[in-house]
Amino acid sequence: MSEKEAQMSEKLNSTPLLELENVTRDFGATRALDSVSLAVYAGRSSGIVGESGAGKSTILNILMGLDTPTSGEVRFRGAPLPRTRADLRTFRSTVQMVFQDPRSSLDPRMNVGRIIAEPLRSLKIPGDHRARVDEVLKMVGLEPDMTSRFPAQFSGGQRQRIAIARALAPRPELLMADEPVSALDVSVKAQLVQVLAELKENLGLTMLMVSHDVGIVRLLCEEMVVLRHGHVEEAGPTDRILASATQTYTRELLAAIPVL
Ligand SMILES: Nc1ncnc2c1ncn2[C@@H]1O[C@H](COP(=O)(O)OP(=O)(O)OP(=O)(O)O)[C@@H](O)[C@H]1O
Ligand SMILES: [Mg+2]
Repeated sequence: MSEKEAQMSEKLNSTPLLELENVTRDFGATRALDSVSLAVYAGRSSGIVGESGAGKSTILNILMGLDTPTSGEVRFRGAPLPRTRADLRTFRSTVQMVFQDPRSSLDPRMNVGRIIAEPLRSLKIPGDHRARVDEVLKMVGLEPDMTSRFPAQFSGGQRQRIAIARALAPRPELLMADEPVSALDVSVKAQLVQVLAELKENLGLTMLMVSHDVGIVRLLCEEMVVLRHGHVEEAGPTDRILASATQTYTRELLAAIPVL
């Protein structure tokens, strides 16, 4: 075994940051997730791909504790998702999320400075919040003098950067993002993918992202999960899945998706 393989196997043997075990989620008669198991390890970013309605957003909501499985287990560092206020604060500052639609996830009545400082306030994170806001704005390629403006005064790509800046403010280890670039046009999309790649590199951030775009998953994620009608069709290292998309469905899904 090479040193790299040894490091990898050590990582894979360690406790996942976040995991689902046999998670089923029913919405009335609709089975959105059917016995889904997956694990996210620190340092191994993961991309979830699958058709509309496959259950991708449901997975992220359950991992964030925003939704509860009908059956199955959700674990953060090997323990059930926290319930007490103090433990919940630790969880929320470790795991942050960028939602599918920045238009509805950014409060239109708050200026950008307040929006980004909000998780710092609600998580009671000590330190100079204004300085941290400036810092994260720079990280996503926005200017600090934008803090007094409101979400409506920004483009879609800028709003998505603001949502990412807000998620980064509490210094999370894991950033979950639901289609972070899908609503954007090609050049803005490429810029934002670059921003995400730099954040990964510079902050050692682990990402769990949902994307229709396999090209983006290939660029940003070491691991990949193919979801179909609420079950995991294939999962494993992105290189391996892309090289040998074994299941017919994954092959079809990859063929249907433009690769960057
Ligand atoms: N709150 C809800 N109430 C009822 N049904 C729901 C709810 N949330 C999700 N569903 C259903 O669960 C299934 C999975 O939905 P989900 O939003 O997770 O899909 P998705 O893979 O994120 O799709 P998309 O790519 O369109 O965002 C769908 O059939 C959806 O209609
Ligand atoms: Mg979705």
